[in-house]
Amino acid sequence: MISKINELTEAINQADLSSEEKLEQFRLRYLARKGEIQSLFKQIGQLDENERAEAGRRMNQLKALAEEKFEQAKEELKSSSDQDISALEDISLPVEPTYAGSLHPLTRTQNEMKEIFLRLGFDVAHGPEVEDDFHNFTALNFPPDHPARDMQDTFFVRKSEKGHHDDLVLRTHTSPVQIRLMKETPPPIRSVIPGRVYRNEAVTAKSYFQFSQMEGLYVDRKVTMGELIETLVRFARLMYGSDVEYRVRPSFFPFTEPSIEMDIWWDSDRGGQWLEILGAGMVDPNVFEAVGLDPEVTTGFAFGMGVDRIAMLRYGIDDIRTLYENDIRLLNQFSD
Ligand code: DAH
Repeated sequence: MISKINELTEAINQADLSSEEKLEQFRLRYLARKGEIQSLFKQIGQLDENERAEAGRRMNQLKALAEEKFEQAKEELKSSSDQDISALEDISLPVEPTYAGSLHPLTRTQNEMKEIFLRLGFDVAHGPEVEDDFHNFTALNFPPDHPARDMQDTFFVRKSEKGHHDDLVLRTHTSPVQIRLMKETPPPIRSVIPGRVYRNEAVTAKSYFQFSQMEGLYVDRKVTMGELIETLVRFARLMYGSDVEYRVRPSFFPFTEPSIEMDIWWDSDRGGQWLEILGAGMVDPNVFEAVGLDPEVTTGFAFGMGVDRIAMLRYGIDDIRTLYENDIRLLNQFSD
């Protein structure tokens, strides 16, 4: 019995009471009604009479020791958790900053453009970024030897030995989606098509191997050039304000006849300049034929806008590369 008491004394002295959980285990093991100390007390009655007094005295000491250890550890735990709380009491302390995500300047510009065209009665369509030669070039009336088909401009996903018909390319513009829409949906069609396009160009502040366009297509009977220009002017006014200065110039694209380009006047510290924001025109009869529509009754206009140029003008960004590098220092300037 005495040796058991010595053993327990030793164990209690060395008990680790550094957490609430350990403290509770200690209480259950030694101090609870069915704990080790109480069960030893019960054994005192079985001892010889001359041993009982000594054992009783030692047991009382043991119990006192366990209780004292327990109370002391409880106090210590409580005061250390009080300290934790008091560290939080100064509610004026600055908190760790948190950063919420925000829309990329290109996405914002694209959203604004989409909203304008939704107001003008267009819907929004999409098409694939990997295209076949037919949609990207042939159906859009590019002659077989057109320089845009050249290796220097186009990223080929598959370059066929058997001629360009089987080529697969990263689309060089969003115009192939015009072909898809006209093949899928009978007129009237009135859609804008935002998306990424790719060209194998030297990377500079002004050009990049990928950029973003927004295509527009309106196909119906008796569509006129006047309606095209009115649509583009309305777009420019809604995008840049009613006092925007613009000009419309004749141009050339294989898939439109006649073709135009629109510039807007941009004032900057270094003086103003005309900047081209889009190409457009009346859908060429050859394009209608390629998709199986009768050019005698079907008319339409199309346009293709450079979203990057429009975003750069809008936000005063002078290097197109910053739009694709996703440097957090640029993106943070656009958080709401
Ligand atoms: N696809 C032309 C380009 O990437 C832009 C363009 C011009 C689109 C005239 C059109 C259009 O729809 O009618 O440069």
